[in-house]
Amino acid sequence: MTHKTIGFATVTFACFILIAWLSATTDTAVAETASVSMAPLVAGDDDGGTGYSYVGANKCKMCHIKQHKSWNTTKMANAMDTLKPGTAAESKTKHGLDPNKDYTTDAACLKCHTTGYGADGGYAIPDPNDKKAVRKAEKLAGVGCEACHGPGSEYVNVHKDIFKSKRKYKVEEMYAAGMKKIDATSCTSCHNDQGPTFSGEFDYNKQKEVGIHERIPLTQRED
Ligand code: HEC
Ligand code: HEC
Ligand code: HEC
Ligand code: HEC
Repeated sequence: MTHKTIGFATVTFACFILIAWLSATTDTAVAETASVSMAPLVAGDDDGGTGYSYVGANKCKMCHIKQHKSWNTTKMANAMDTLKPGTAAESKTKHGLDPNKDYTTDAACLKCHTTGYGADGGYAIPDPNDKKAVRKAEKLAGVGCEACHGPGSEYVNVHKDIFKSKRKYKVEEMYAAGMKKIDATSCTSCHNDQGPTFSGEFDYNKQKEVGIHERIPLTQRED
């Protein structure tokens, strides 16, 4: 081998190493981004930038009238009222809260007493002069359908199609459009020790059977 060919081989080898190193670091960067967006969601976090937004319980009412009617009588549906001065006075006093204070604009309370607070298209404290923002906030005050089932802007269209065609469906189709599968973490994002009145325990199976809404068997779903 001449000096020239050795030099050429060294340069080629160095380039190979550089390219290998670059692609390795790029892969790591991609992997890191992916793991960030897959972090578990907690109340007040956004929905990972999926672009879905919250439509309010009224949009579900026409098709799920029984669930809506019974949900409407629950404490969760009316959770915003609890933040108004003069309500739940006994509980507030017991837990070191001021029963005469207006907590309806307190971010520390809204993340659990509204629907989608802090998430894209979720509850936001409205400017009282902005009528549109006030109306949107009214729709998302309290713990609405979408606090458990996920932001509805897209999956409502899937439900409409299933409703009109009366066809069978697999639930994965709804999940793909932003509806969430419900498990204990759907509740413990709010039912946890960050709440000033939390009793220290939350029994998912028991709580699921009481105080959510009337349950109606599904007829079009295929397993
Ligand atoms: C966005 C937050 C949030 C989520 C998610 C949530 N809850 Fe709640 N829940 C609340 C709040 C706030 C209250 C209290 C409402 C009030 O009294 O103002 C409550 C009250 C309740 C109550 C009534 C308790 C009582 O003392 O009468 C039950 C039952 C309940 N939740 C069950 C569940 C279950 C089961 C899930 C999950 C499937 C769930 N919740 C998900 C915030 C939430
Ligand atoms: C981490 C979520 C979370 C936060 C933050 C939170 N709450 Fe709640 N709140 C709940 C849940 C869940 C319940 C119902 C079950 C319970 O008491 O744990 C509840 C119940 C209550 C109740 C009892 C209602 C009743 O019917 O007796 C009051 C009062 C209350 N919250 C006021 C507040 C105020 C005021 C703030 C802000 C300073 C606040 N909460 C912040 C989740 C939260
Ligand atoms: C506090 C959480 C929570 C809220 C709020 C909530 N749901 Fe549900 N919903 C559930 C749970 C839990 C189930 C049972 C899911 C399971 O076991 O897989 C369910 C089931 C359903 C089902 C399936 C059929 C049935 O009745 O079981 C429909 C439809 C439904 N909910 C609609 C609604 C609508 C509409 C609203 C608002 C008016 C709403 N839900 C509010 C938790 C909630
Ligand atoms: C145009 C009618 C329509 C609207 C609006 C609608 N749905 Fe549905 N939804 C349906 C139909 C139809 C089914 C399937 C019912 C069956 O299988 O019996 C369904 C099923 C569901 C289920 C059960 C999914 C499963 O298989 O576990 C949930 C939860 C649900 N809807 C929640 C909602 C929520 C929350 C909203 C509002 C954001 C909403 N729906 C709006 C028609 C609708």
